Amino acid sequence: MANWTEASKQRLQIVLSADTWLPTELPEYARGFMYMLGSLTASSFVVLVLSGILLAMNGPTSWSYNGAMRFVAATHFWGVQAFFFFMMLHLWRVFFSGAWRGGRGLTWLLGAIAFLMAIPTAFTGFLINGDLYSQWNAVQAKDGLNALGLGWVNLTDAGQMFGMHVVVLPLILAIIIGLHLTLVRVKSVVPPYPSAPILDEGQGE
Ligand code: HEM
Repeated sequence: MANWTEASKQRLQIVLSADTWLPTELPEYARGFMYMLGSLTASSFVVLVLSGILLAMNGPTSWSYNGAMRFVAATHFWGVQAFFFFMMLHLWRVFFSGAWRGGRGLTWLLGAIAFLMAIPTAFTGFLINGDLYSQWNAVQAKDGLNALGLGWVNLTDAGQMFGMHVVVLPLILAIIIGLHLTLVRVKSVVPPYPSAPILDEGQGE
């Protein structure tokens, strides 16, 4: 019978090791800007969480009347633009370098789930803005969800959306991003495709 304690111990030794989290060498191919896009996405997420905590602590009206809080709200808004922008570019990079290769399928899947989770997280943020645009969005999207039989998700309930946007969805997203980054550290960054053979048939004749 497999000894799962031993197996878990071996896995944890890899996941928690200093070699995994504090590598001192970087493969040559991973030095380019293209390989920074994931970290830029993660950094934008940190900006979102920090500015989001300040917004939640000061309450929904603070950013309408208080100059400093308007700045925090703007940082949160532009943080979202940066987050999606870098995530999109990162997705293209991992797609074109076939980054699911070499046992990185789960890393890919967690990235894809992070993308899918980021959409409702951002959307519920628009809903708690409270302006006419967000109210219109809430009602339209509620119609859509009702039609899908998901009427119990009440997008017009500002309290429910506040809880979703501030606690539930960001927490799920943070856990998924954490697992994604752990797998990236354990499996390392994917090496480039081998270069195509040079076809020199007929040359030099
Ligand atoms: C919340 C959004 C995401 C964050 C914060 C994130 C972060 C990262 C980071 C920091 C890396 C290390 C290499 C690099 O930076 O390029 C990475 C690698 C990777 N990401 Fe993401 N990622 C996200 C979304 C995605 C998405 C949407 C996919 C694909 C569907 C994906 C698939 C991968 C794969 C397969 C790797 C490992 C292989 C490699 O690095 O070449 N990620 N991710």
